[in-house]
Amino acid sequence: MRGVLLCALSTLNYRNLAPGTLEFPQGVTGIFGENGAGKTNLLEAAYLALTGQTDVTRLEQLVQQGEKEAYVRADLQQGGSLSIQEVGLGRGRRQLKVDGVKVRTGDLPRGSAVWIRPEDSELVFGSPSGRRGYLDSLLSRLSSRYGQQVSRYERTVSQRNAALRSGEHWAMQVWDESLVTLGTEIMLFRRRALTRLDELACEANAALGSHKALVLTLSESTTPETYAADLAARHAEEIARGSTVTGPHRDDLVLTLGGFPASDYASRGEGRTVALALRRAELELLAEKFGEKPVLLIDDFTAELDPNRRQYLLDLAASVPQAIVTGTEHPPGAALTLRARSGRFTVETACADPVHADPEEVDPVRAGPVEVSA
Ligand SMILES: Nc1ncnc2c1ncn2[C@@H]1O[C@H](COP(=O)(O)OP(=O)(O)OP(=O)(O)O)[C@@H](O)[C@H]1O
Ligand SMILES: [Mg+2]
Repeated sequence: MRGVLLCALSTLNYRNLAPGTLEFPQGVTGIFGENGAGKTNLLEAAYLALTGQTDVTRLEQLVQQGEKEAYVRADLQQGGSLSIQEVGLGRGRRQLKVDGVKVRTGDLPRGSAVWIRPEDSELVFGSPSGRRGYLDSLLSRLSSRYGQQVSRYERTVSQRNAALRSGEHWAMQVWDESLVTLGTEIMLFRRRALTRLDELACEANAALGSHKALVLTLSESTTPETYAADLAARHAEEIARGSTVTGPHRDDLVLTLGGFPASDYASRGEGRTVALALRRAELELLAEKFGEKPVLLIDDFTAELDPNRRQYLLDLAASVPQAIVTGTEHPPGAALTLRARSGRFTVETACADPVHADPEEVDPVRAGPVEVSA
């Protein structure tokens, strides 16, 4: 299967990164450097330029201290054609362009990148909202309608909560109707998607050498069949609490490992394996949906102390058309290795014969030396 290719990444005033352009070949690019060198920042910038998304809530954090605006740009090849995606960042503001035309996040291609990082363990051990966020963000990438319905549903919940608190109970029927319509669609979509997600995550968990079976289920506060009735039954309680207590915004993606919820019983290492299995499942689902493997960004493979998971990450990187892997040590087997130092990236070793895209399938990728302008 062919893949999305990040041909070049340009940044200006992005965190500690020196301004400039990095060109990437196909295959694995390894980036190593000491703590604080800018490795995570580079992957974060690549993910933002490829998907338009960041989980940072205060966008100004991404802007270099002392500057007002930042900019990232990806030259990428997707679906056999080249395009340029740009993201401009200012105080609380994000502007996206594709080939020079302003777009919204939802208009960007949705299967461009998957980012695996040490913080993914939080998916397993953190709160249900983190797992819902994983599920919602993945399903929104599989279906733009799902993403729109989730946004509408969330807006309805906060408007309904405001009405509950302000005593506007006469408005409740209107909110209830849209809540049930939107919430039912969300629950049904989640149920359908979970079947395949569960299969893929279980396969990945087993491939990671786990002897315990992983099962993904939804813990639902209501069902599509009973939502309207459940809402009516808890009306008095909702008025007392001033918030909506029934619906898919309260659901959890339960990760059961060896018969017990991983969030409460898994060891740190087992949790890390489950998180990796979820990311692998994300990669496969996006590839199935869009017919191309996303660019794989792996942050800090050296954070993996378990040799089995370390090797799994490196094998996974080698199995996709393009991956960028960072670590405090040299990632082995890379087509291009860069050394990171104070936000600058210099070539340590370049493959003598960089891999080019199959001309039958896609246009050749610009591969070559890395230019970093100071
Ligand atoms: N807005 C910003 N402006 C300037 N510098 C920033 C900004 N945000 C973060 N930094 C700095 O960027 C540096 C590099 O951070 P980064 O997380 O990329 O390092 P890293 O190479 O991944 O290190 P580690 O190996 O510890 O994970 C940090 O020292 C941090 O202080
Ligand atoms: Mg880091």
